[in-house]
Amino acid sequence: MNHIVVTGGCGFIGSNFIRLMLETYSELSITNIDKLTYAGNLANLTDLEESERYQFQKGDICDRPFVDSVVGKGNIDAVVHFAAESHVDRSILDSTPFVTTNVNGTLTLLDSCRSHEISRYVQVSTDEVYGSLGDEGFFTEETPLAPNSPYSASKAAADMLVRSYVHTFDFPAVITRCSNNYGPFQFPEKLLPLFISNARNDQSLPVYGTGENVRDWIHVLDHCRGVDAALRNGKVGDVYNFGGRTEMTNIALTKLLLKLLGKPDSLIQYVTDRPGHDQRYAIDCAKAETELNWSPQVSFEQGLQETIDWYIDNEEWTNNIRSGDYMNYYEKQYGDR
Ligand code: NAD
Ligand code: TYD
Repeated sequence: MNHIVVTGGCGFIGSNFIRLMLETYSELSITNIDKLTYAGNLANLTDLEESERYQFQKGDICDRPFVDSVVGKGNIDAVVHFAAESHVDRSILDSTPFVTTNVNGTLTLLDSCRSHEISRYVQVSTDEVYGSLGDEGFFTEETPLAPNSPYSASKAAADMLVRSYVHTFDFPAVITRCSNNYGPFQFPEKLLPLFISNARNDQSLPVYGTGENVRDWIHVLDHCRGVDAALRNGKVGDVYNFGGRTEMTNIALTKLLLKLLGKPDSLIQYVTDRPGHDQRYAIDCAKAETELNWSPQVSFEQGLQETIDWYIDNEEWTNNIRSGDYMNYYEKQYGDR
């Protein structure tokens, strides 16, 4: 594989993926297409700006002529699709951009890839398409889709389109579904970077509801290694789940963060719950372990400490984002958060 197109490479996971791939494969070059929404940040990849193996093309995956101009260049071995509206809370406030990008954008990309006979395509999806678990059990690749938020519904719709293109047109796609990622370059509206930044500034940490909701945490580079494994060795039409085998309630994680940051529990503020808040996510990733020879490499203890250190060392990165429109957005929508 010599040249791949990555969508959404200026976001959290996409930027980590591009850096990891270029570090891992010395022959590989990557074209990144990204619309630079509020979540897209050129600062996530400044270290690659001078690289001859990296090109950035600003544009929207919903714009077919634009997508054709990149995908149709003739030398593309694969497309890895990360671009999405990704934040559940925003999807509750306004689901339209989620359907536009996650559903229509994916469809545009699929049609362009199909017409240009792209021979490999990875749909980066989420465990949230499976819905919510009770105290017991795990999501497997066979778990029926039961999305509960507009975000997860739009991702599930995209997955269904990919499935239909495999079935109807022999389109060479695989789908990956991963649990909650943590690591460097995550937009500070998501739990971990938001809480680290708030705690550092002695601001309250808004825990939704009781804080008893459970998430499974995986280091972003473990997820990226999984996407790479699926790209290279995944079976066309198959789904692969990735998780970190690290389940934690939000309140336990919040208290752990405060302890590691040397801040008091009194910063915790319980706020109105997220509507429709999924109770628990937990992933069975045995299929990826067996068939892709993948397993999570980063221990949560080490990964979390390194992540905290990264946000402390790169406080300006977070502050630049938080001083922009993004905070106005939250203040307007959620007075008490
Ligand atoms: P992110 O919000 O940090 O980044 C999304 C990127 O997509 C941004 O750079 C944005 O500018 C770009 N984008 C958005 N709309 C676009 C459009 N119409 N055209 C082109 N570019 C567009 O998201 P993330 O957390 O990096 O997630 C990446 C992917 O991984 C998403 O598909 C998400 O559903 C999936 N995923 C995320 C997690 C997680 O924990 N963050 C877990 C599982 C799966
Ligand atoms: P989030 O990072 O938004 O990811 P997701 O909704 O995709 O799981 O949230 C992680 C968990 O943390 C989720 O259960 C919601 C909760 N949460 C809070 O309690 N407070 C917050 O301010 C945020 C952003 C999330």
